Amino acid sequence: MKKSKIIFVAGCGGMLGDSIYNVFNKEYHMHCTDINVNEKWLKFLDFRNYTEYDNIVKNIKPDYLFHIGAYTDLEYCELNKEDALETNFYSVKNAVKIANNYNCQLIFISSAGVFDGTKNTYYDEDLPIPIGHYAKTKALSEEYIKKNSNNYLIIRPGWMMGGGPKKDKKFVNKIIKQIKNNIKTLNVVSDKLGTPTYTYDFANNLKLILRNNLNGVFNLVCEGQTSRLEVAHEILNILNLQQKINIKEVETNFFKNEYFAKRPFSERLVNKKLNDLDLNIMRNWKICLNEYLINNFSL
Ligand SMILES: NC(=O)c1ccc[n+]([C@@H]2O[C@H](COP(=O)([O-])OP(=O)(O)OC[C@H]3O[C@@H](n4cnc5c(N)ncnc54)[C@H](OP(=O)(O)O)[C@@H]3O)[C@@H](O)[C@H]2O)c1
Repeated sequence: MKKSKIIFVAGCGGMLGDSIYNVFNKEYHMHCTDINVNEKWLKFLDFRNYTEYDNIVKNIKPDYLFHIGAYTDLEYCELNKEDALETNFYSVKNAVKIANNYNCQLIFISSAGVFDGTKNTYYDEDLPIPIGHYAKTKALSEEYIKKNSNNYLIIRPGWMMGGGPKKDKKFVNKIIKQIKNNIKTLNVVSDKLGTPTYTYDFANNLKLILRNNLNGVFNLVCEGQTSRLEVAHEILNILNLQQKINIKEVETNFFKNEYFAKRPFSERLVNKKLNDLDLNIMRNWKICLNEYLINNFSL
């Protein structure tokens, strides 16, 4: 396939960046950067540095600027509020200005975590009410982009699954690591609801969104709504470990020392706008979890 359009990605070295590179690279000219140069297709850029960010984008002249990097450790963000603002919000101001300077569309990755979680499910147009500092940095970014960007997409994923053993910093790999350590009982919260988001499907659906020249705010999560508890059970089910490992249901409070940042009770999103446009190609989270585990983790 002949590649025509150019994509510049800032913060592409993480779990989502991996799928973004692999999915888009087939059809687009990719220029991927990160502060952590962990792949041969990455170059160094600290996106907090406006001058360097601006220079590199000026030279590449991309059609799209994907600003996807962030600090995603909620506890780190609570303990390092200014640093988190600088990385997750001030850098987004840089991205808005740069995308406006060079007339490219800005693609920003927000989060299902911007809502307060008091409703069961959230639609694209619901108003963010952040309850923790990480969520605040994302909500501030959304607000700033809406006011100042000439052409943007704000995309909200849910509980990300992707990146494999090397890059996955989130729930699935946390469970897998415990399994690899021969744990006999997994403590899993029963009071957290959400929508998993397979990074591979996310990247494919994002590609479809670009092809359709959309702009605005979109939820983008896997089909099917669930809970941390059900995801943990499904992991054991897929790996055929239900007879060997127990799951003990606990409440969020059980992890109050380790995971002290506030998290919404429900982070469940519905891809309503994409459904209405008939552009929702996200698969069910159980199918995705199965594919993710089989392709990435040998146990
Ligand atoms: N993971 C989830 O469950 C989830 C859910 C909803 C939304 N999101 C959003 O999705 C996006 C991608 O998340 P992810 O899970 O792929 O995160 P990730 O795996 O932590 O990847 C983020 C990447 O950004 C890099 N980065 C941090 N500061 C940077 C800087 N100043 N300049 C350049 N790169 C920098 C990180 O480097 P270091 O590793 O060195 O920090 C990392 O390689 C983020 O915007 C995140 O907020 C994630």
